Amino acid sequence: MDLYLPFPVEKSNQVSMTRVIEAFEIFRSAHRKMFKKHGLSHVYLPVEHLPQYLDYIKEVTEEVIDDPEVSTKIKAEIVYDNAAQIVREAMAEPRLGHNIEVGQQYVKTVVRFVTEMPEAIECLAEMMVIDYSVYTHSVNVCLLNAAFAHFLGLPNDKVNDIGLGGLLHDVGKNKIPETILKKPAKLDQEEWELIKSHPASGFRLLRKSVRLAPDTLRMIYQHHENFDGTGYPRGLKHEQISTPSRIIRLIDAYDAITAQRCYKAAVPPFKAIKVMLREMSGQIWSPLFEPFIVFLGQIAGGAFKSRRINAGETVVRLAGYGRERGTIHARPPGGRSNPVGPGPIHGSDVNRTRLRAGGGGPA
Ligand SMILES: [Fe+2]
Repeated sequence: MDLYLPFPVEKSNQVSMTRVIEAFEIFRSAHRKMFKKHGLSHVYLPVEHLPQYLDYIKEVTEEVIDDPEVSTKIKAEIVYDNAAQIVREAMAEPRLGHNIEVGQQYVKTVVRFVTEMPEAIECLAEMMVIDYSVYTHSVNVCLLNAAFAHFLGLPNDKVNDIGLGGLLHDVGKNKIPETILKKPAKLDQEEWELIKSHPASGFRLLRKSVRLAPDTLRMIYQHHENFDGTGYPRGLKHEQISTPSRIIRLIDAYDAITAQRCYKAAVPPFKAIKVMLREMSGQIWSPLFEPFIVFLGQIAGGAFKSRRINAGETVVRLAGYGRERGTIHARPPGGRSNPVGPGPIHGSDVNRTRLRAGGGGPA
């Protein structure tokens, strides 16, 4: 790919794009000096080279993940940043099959990273941006979906499909104006109807553009359906909602609650779980709560500096700020607590009294 820099045109307000690095040319210290001299931090490439660029960052990420010289922390940074770029392009032009195919392949790389390197999700959790944008939210949901599906013992092909559902679940928001997506005040009826249309829009956009697994497509369509039938777009309930869609409903809600938005502060994990148990217990498929709490305890370790989580074998301490911290009793998945394990499991199988959040206290 040729790379360009913008230089001001003399006696005019315009800039001209000048090719500074040719395709296959090695980036040298002379280039670095030139960047420094002109105070430039970005290079540009022709828009028609975008597919090659997406292929390039996918390949570079694969190489970095396999490089034993690179620390897991650096790998996590590269995986996270490149995922954000890929989702940005996928949302900008979801009808472009290549963008979605790159996303598909990239999720496989992410899943390999998360499943083969035990500390990967901890490092990725540190990368998770609390400051909300539709792109960072999509990356967070992709990573948490994939890691949680793996934690639940699902096979890798399902983990891939569930991770991709996370990456693409909000594609239908691509035509909704930022002013509505980021509106700090209550939405009026017309705006709310527009927001509610995004699962079906995303489904329609992607249904024909590329071959996606039925599970992934269903997640895009059903990710706002509540288990008790109070969600949208169709008010589906119970068995009408697929298990991957129930998983993304939980993860999507958790990431939205813990994110910082223009109209609300970030909520720490312990408080987020309390809010979800108190206000969303009918909406979320209850057998997922317990393993999710154990999962949060395990992934965080020393990560989430501002939203620390510690885990015990059966007692998960979710730290927060001041009084917003405490202990939640939950058992790891396995036996009857694993909602996606062998054999059916019903809501009544989970002793929900054990999921009551304990009072605040030192974490
Ligand atoms: Fe959504």
